[in-house]
Amino acid sequence: MITNKNFGEIPQSYLFSEVAERVRRFEQQHPDARVLRLGIGDVTRPLAPAIVEALHSAVDEQAAAASFQGYGPETGYGFLREAIAAGEYAAIGVDVSPDEVFVGDGSKSDSANIQELFADSARVAVTDPVYPVYVDSNAMAGRLGTFDGDRWSNLSYIPCDDSNDYRPALPEEPVELIYLCSPNNPTGTTMSREDLEAWVAYARKTGAVILFDVAYRAFITGDDVPRSIYEIEGADEVAIEFGSFSKTAGFTGLRCSWTVVPKKLQRDGVSLHTMWLRRQSTKFNGTPYIVQRAAEATYSPAGREQVRADVEYYLANARLIRETLENAGVKAVGGEHSPYVWFRCPAGMDSWEFFDALLEQAQIVGTPGVGFGPTGAGHFRLSAFNTAEATQEAAGRLAELLPKLAS
Ligand code: MLT
Repeated sequence: MITNKNFGEIPQSYLFSEVAERVRRFEQQHPDARVLRLGIGDVTRPLAPAIVEALHSAVDEQAAAASFQGYGPETGYGFLREAIAAGEYAAIGVDVSPDEVFVGDGSKSDSANIQELFADSARVAVTDPVYPVYVDSNAMAGRLGTFDGDRWSNLSYIPCDDSNDYRPALPEEPVELIYLCSPNNPTGTTMSREDLEAWVAYARKTGAVILFDVAYRAFITGDDVPRSIYEIEGADEVAIEFGSFSKTAGFTGLRCSWTVVPKKLQRDGVSLHTMWLRRQSTKFNGTPYIVQRAAEATYSPAGREQVRADVEYYLANARLIRETLENAGVKAVGGEHSPYVWFRCPAGMDSWEFFDALLEQAQIVGTPGVGFGPTGAGHFRLSAFNTAEATQEAAGRLAELLPKLAS
């Protein structure tokens, strides 16, 4: 056998590809339907003017021999690593050095690739429901055992739902790699400082490594919710953090992210920073220069203001979605520090039943909760990334449909 047999165990299609395929079929059968997309978390606002200006001027630099850039550093250009260390970390009183910041082409790739640093036998834990990339990337690497259509045999699931207020409990069985995400995708809930302190203490005691995804941190409002795991004392000895420009600044198409691997983080006497550097130097040739200049522009005074306005725009959509659900008697979480709203499907429907009802009866696309893991069964996620107009129209359609489904 010459192929990776682990692929045989993985459900056939990636969640968002399955959703896209069902929508494509529906649109083919109903060419006149105006389908509103509140499914995948893809942004709709155009790039902010400060970003566009930086892109143009970086293109001009690439057009002149004196300023042309070929291969860049695999870790990212110094100007962006410094801007991230200052803008994301020093700005909240956290000490991360620029050379602990690795610029990447998206948190999807970085959070999928990081598992390469760990042993095949490393025991993985995920909160459930969870962003499917963490699970599928470990499944491809053969770490998760067999899949019974619902669960992987060697994966520790940490259920998060309304029965525990969406707070992941510390695992009872020993685990070595723990994926946490706050604000959470898909539930939109956040972890408190106390929760994070408990996780950091757990990892310090057991030697586990926390893989902390803050792709949605720009949506946090107020000062109570931590924006980085490094706000917790001692986290730099136990955690790697992933951040992204995708949702913050509309980079889902441009592609730019960062990963912090602290120099203090060692396991088996080996520096994970050194390992990630080695991995990236071999397998990654860096994010394009023009894109890194665009990312840098999000930290200029104008860039900050413009990007913030886009985040506020999506947050207003999120509030409307949540209010619409709650006015129809559907209890929801998220949408407060997050572009995602999460809820139990009405009338006891399962996730795909509700997906079909929403698509067929209201021409709205959402994401079935069960696609995010077994605890997501019977749940649903709506995203706030469409335009305000489309979101208002979707809210109107939802307000009509939900009482019908309940009766
Ligand atoms: C989502 O909808 O969960 C995200 O868009 C997926 C991603 O960022 O890869």
